[in-house]
Amino acid sequence: MALWGARFSSSPAETVFNLSRSVDFDWRLAPYDLASSLAHLRALGRAGVVTEEISMQLEQGIRSLLADVIAGRFTPNDEDEDVHSALERALVGRLGTVGGSLRAGRSRNDQVVTDLKLYLLDTLTDLALLIDDLAVALLTQGEKYVEVVAPGFTHLQHAQPISFGQELAKHAFALERDLDRLADWRRRAMLSPLGSAALAGSPLVLDPEESARHLGFEGTVDNSIDAVSDRDFVVEALFVLALLGTHISRIGEEFTLFASSEFGWVKVDDAYSTGSSIMPQKRNPDVAELARGKSGRLLGNLVAVMTVLKGLPFAYNRDLQEDKEPIFDSIDTLSLLLPAVTGMITTAKFQIERISDGAIAGFALATEVADYLVRKGMPFAEAHEVTGQAVRLAESRSVGLESLSLDDFSSVHPLFGADLIPLLSAEGAVRSRTSVMGTSPASVSAAISRVRGRLALQRSQLGKWRKQMDEVLGQ
Ligand code: ARG
Repeated sequence: MALWGARFSSSPAETVFNLSRSVDFDWRLAPYDLASSLAHLRALGRAGVVTEEISMQLEQGIRSLLADVIAGRFTPNDEDEDVHSALERALVGRLGTVGGSLRAGRSRNDQVVTDLKLYLLDTLTDLALLIDDLAVALLTQGEKYVEVVAPGFTHLQHAQPISFGQELAKHAFALERDLDRLADWRRRAMLSPLGSAALAGSPLVLDPEESARHLGFEGTVDNSIDAVSDRDFVVEALFVLALLGTHISRIGEEFTLFASSEFGWVKVDDAYSTGSSIMPQKRNPDVAELARGKSGRLLGNLVAVMTVLKGLPFAYNRDLQEDKEPIFDSIDTLSLLLPAVTGMITTAKFQIERISDGAIAGFALATEVADYLVRKGMPFAEAHEVTGQAVRLAESRSVGLESLSLDDFSSVHPLFGADLIPLLSAEGAVRSRTSVMGTSPASVSAAISRVRGRLALQRSQLGKWRKQMDEVLGQ
């Protein structure tokens, strides 16, 4: 059903209708559209625009339509342009002309922003819970391996020994920041645009603050022209999700590498591995690869919407309809990806011996030697030089620094003493880094419990938002 047409001599060409139709992708907004219609109906009732009797009829109509939409008993037809027109068709079909009363004081321009905000407030809460699950899975695995030494890399070259627990747990801190960004996003998204109508507000809607309250918003926007044009909340959400995708891609890359035969550090569980159609022996870490690959579309979605908005005139332009598919795709993508990655991590089996074997390869104890000299009073630049000579000596014998004797070290510099030798082990090196963010098992365990505490707070906040949204949608 078209919401306009009286002033036209013909209906739109089929190509135009097909081009502008959005109901195939915006139908998921239907429950939010009906929730905001209820709030708007109340506003019309308070302003005396609709009588109490009509208001009751409409309220019943909206409620039974909502039940039908949720149960799949009402769906759009081939002639519906978008979610808003499909739902109005239903109300008019069920209630007669009264069904068209809700259009007073409201436009699809403020309606679509309201719907999309409600949708995002709802779904991003669920997504945040999935992010939290992933962070917790990483911390749980990390905790098991706090005491296990591993080679730490820079430039993908052996750098210094680290706690393998710290290596696994590190991703959770990035995910914690993603959750924090979502909470911050919410703070700005929490203002209702309903009442802005086409662009200038409406004389028929007297108290948009009340509608905002009914819909669970914390207040209303201040400028109706800005409100119907603003898609910052979409872009910000897309950015947070693109960055989250980037974080997950780095987890994916790490697991792909760790699962390679060359590394052999992790065995991805059968349930999270795939085979090859031609090579019967293969076990491929496809979940990790998709975790890496999906980041492309998440970033693409952000760029797509930013590009649509650049230079766009105020207020509503049909270009703005292009905001939906990208954000829906980012949410759908992550809703599939997050549980799979969490499952892969939870079930992964780490090959401790292989991991620890390489912890001191590549002269990874060189920094211990240099730090030792610094503690003996040598300036670091000189210590760097002297240690370099010790590395050269070890390399010329094809052994590691830990295989040099005290005499060897003394031949390089007289400052070396017997107290150097106990420091030359991966365990010793790792244990000595006791600063708050350091790799010592004690530091790593303490950091894990701190982030666990913060995640628990975020989780309880998410639970409150979940409940609040359920109330808004259920009223
Ligand atoms: N389907 C449209 C969108 O998603 C709804 C708003 C249409 N407004 C208009 N003035 N044509 O943006």
